[in-house]
Amino acid sequence: MTENLLLTSDWHLGHHNIRFLCDRPWDWPLRLEVNHRAAFDSNPEATLLHLGDVLFAKYWSRSLKEVWPGRVICTLGNHDRKKEQSRIEAEGWGATDSHSTIDGFRRILFCHRPQDLRRKFLSDIGVYGHKHNSPLTEYEAEPVPRSIRISPEFMDYRPIHLNDLLKIGETPIWHAASQKWYGASTYPEKLPVKEMGPNHRD
Ligand SMILES: [Fe+2]
Repeated sequence: MTENLLLTSDWHLGHHNIRFLCDRPWDWPLRLEVNHRAAFDSNPEATLLHLGDVLFAKYWSRSLKEVWPGRVICTLGNHDRKKEQSRIEAEGWGATDSHSTIDGFRRILFCHRPQDLRRKFLSDIGVYGHKHNSPLTEYEAEPVPRSIRISPEFMDYRPIHLNDLLKIGETPIWHAASQKWYGASTYPEKLPVKEMGPNHRD
């Protein structure tokens, strides 16, 4: 039995240029907010595990509770600097470098950036954000240890439950036409992946 965890990452609230850098639809902030609120309403006891890059403090002044009113643990990202971190902590979010949990015999490590699990960590599965919709890397195809990307651009700006993620076993992609989750390798259409330009920032 795994924890009641919903996973999300890289909201980049207030970061207007992220629309162009990561090819987001113009209404991505609304999609993100509506989808997270709907997930909260159907599972208010869940803990949201946010894998970092939450907001740009200078440009986003609203309370994070408007997006997710419940409990949150955040593994801080490269854009979660001092001001961002104090906003996150002022909302009562737990802020940490990494989080881990056990599923049966498997140890799952959550953090913002991808880690080489073969070298540094005694973990069977690594779940991370940071890479957005940049092309999938070779090690994401390796079955053991498994590296799974959480990307709002692949996930229609909605969180995924840890149980659903473990069933899929690889980077989850939301297929809007069938209203279903697929793994990156079983997604029925061409992946919405493109090479990022020279000014791309994770
Ligand atoms: Fe990011």
